[in-house]
Amino acid sequence: MTVLRSVVLGCGSYLPERILTNAELARRIDTSDEWIVQRTGIRQRHIAADGEFTSHLAINAARAALAHAGVDAQSIDLIVLATSTPDNTFPATAVAVQNGLGIHHGAAFDLQAVCSGFVFALATADNFLRGGAFKRALVIGAETFSRILDWNDRGTCVLFGDGAGAVVLEAQTQSGKSSDRGVLTSHLRSDGRHKSKLYVDGGPSSTQTVGHLRMEGREVFKHAVGMITDVIVDAFDATGTTAEDIDWFVPHQANKRIIDASAHKLHIAPQKVVLTVDRHGNTSAASIPLALGVAVADGRIKQGDLVLLEAMGGGFTWGSALVRW
Ligand code: ACO
Repeated sequence: MTVLRSVVLGCGSYLPERILTNAELARRIDTSDEWIVQRTGIRQRHIAADGEFTSHLAINAARAALAHAGVDAQSIDLIVLATSTPDNTFPATAVAVQNGLGIHHGAAFDLQAVCSGFVFALATADNFLRGGAFKRALVIGAETFSRILDWNDRGTCVLFGDGAGAVVLEAQTQSGKSSDRGVLTSHLRSDGRHKSKLYVDGGPSSTQTVGHLRMEGREVFKHAVGMITDVIVDAFDATGTTAEDIDWFVPHQANKRIIDASAHKLHIAPQKVVLTVDRHGNTSAASIPLALGVAVADGRIKQGDLVLLEAMGGGFTWGSALVRW
């Protein structure tokens, strides 16, 4: 039986030039490199320059992904951009990216699931491609969280950074087996009862301001590992795979302790875990494609490898995807 699968043709990423280290933060607020590293694993993060918008980061990442895939921008008929930090309330940042790439056909839209955004966007594009509505998609995660941080709140401002990553997906006929290339399964969840644990205290409808990120860190931590591992078990069950079969685990990069605890609970060997949180901080929807970019560029992720993605974020939202590279 043949099926359509969304196969990854290439990936790319972009980080703003400016690096903000823990030491520099410790000169501005009451914190220390030791505290941040021990609680989160973060050593530095990148910060977008004045006038550098989410769309600019996304366009750079998209161009890198198109070059890596060896395909022309004009062959893209769908752009799904995951972000919680759009250039404007509307139109979607995705249409600025579409225009920046010189594409004037097909569809482009934003998707908002906070830190789970890339997994939600990948699943959305995958469904469109497998359904035959589009042939080739750019799935992008792009964020400028530095713009919604309260830089006087040491409980949150040390955690986040800016960046963007993208993958090119193409609908290809495959055999329908778990040895196929492409997105093999995805599982998405949300539960709005937790919405006040991680949110932004502004918005067009409520305050007519952009607002700042607010988080009950301990509450997020308490739920994260259970939610992440549940949705990964769903991915294993749906495909008849186990932790043993995974070549690379590419989690959302929020906090090294959450990542380590999730991998440990699932019996995923530490050497299979791709970690970038030390260099990138938490870049929300951009963190998974940024990590994919690093592990593909340094030769770890190769064609045929089984790659497990997961994320959890504000809402709460959470999700997983299994991709044969
Ligand atoms: N530097 C120094 N001290 C700090 C800092 C800081 N940057 N931030 C908080 N503290 C202090 C607090 O004020 C508190 O001091 P007190 O005991 O005198 O009151 C103490 O450290 C402990 O504070 P907690 O918030 O309880 O610290 P905790 O051990 O929970 O660590 C952290 C905080 C790192 C945010 C942790 O809760 C966490 O990792 N939570 C997960 C949330 C997360 O990763 N969110 C990312 C977004 S969501 C997502 O992407 C999944």
